[in-house]
Amino acid sequence: MSIIITIDGYSSCGKSTLARQLARELNYLYIDSGAMYRAITLYFLRNHVDWSVVAEVHKALDEINLHFEYNSHTGQSDMVLNDENVEALIRDMLVSEHVSEVAAIKEVREFSVAQQQKMGEKKGIVMDGRDIGTTVFPHAELKIFVTADPAVRVERRFKELIERNPNLTIEEVKNNLELRDYTDSNREFSPLRKAADAVELDNTHLTREQQLATALKWAQERIQKLG
Ligand code: DC
Repeated sequence: MSIIITIDGYSSCGKSTLARQLARELNYLYIDSGAMYRAITLYFLRNHVDWSVVAEVHKALDEINLHFEYNSHTGQSDMVLNDENVEALIRDMLVSEHVSEVAAIKEVREFSVAQQQKMGEKKGIVMDGRDIGTTVFPHAELKIFVTADPAVRVERRFKELIERNPNLTIEEVKNNLELRDYTDSNREFSPLRKAADAVELDNTHLTREQQLATALKWAQERIQKLG
């Protein structure tokens, strides 16, 4: 019996690392829902879409085709936007600076959520994001809400980005994270919330292996319960 596992939480909490590991252990599909909002943002920026104008948003969304493609080198799924692999580009600081604003748009959310729900129809999926346990899969069998100390999150994110962006300062990373947390939690449509039935996983003092062991135990309990 396959289940749906949702992983939500603030930016740079280690959600995607956990989701990817869990999916691998269970032989489930892993979907990074944030990558979809990032790809839409990249399209808007490149095509100078004025996203404050609803008609422009509609027109742009009609031109956007998103799918995930397995990358045999990394063993992970890459985000493909209109036949272009944009996996690296969507991690850019410029995209990070605008993605929360784009993700707050009602039409963008409806477009993304509909596709995410389709991907979960057969279950056997781990999806991470902000509203997966509350809006995308409100009936998921296991909902995990990941948290970590803000200073630890800034440190982790900085380490991740500095390799590709040597001029980056820790202050810039801190400001971007704070702003995204604020925008993601205070938007009108599907704000970041811990679902009432989600289990919280604070990984501030956990290694990746300890975090995975905890989540895997929860997943196996749920799977067994369902027979
Ligand atoms: O997980 P991430 O940092 O790649 O997500 C990028 C942005 O997308 C994040 O600032 C909030 C938004 N997002 C969202 O609103 N809902 C989701 N399910 C996933 C991401």
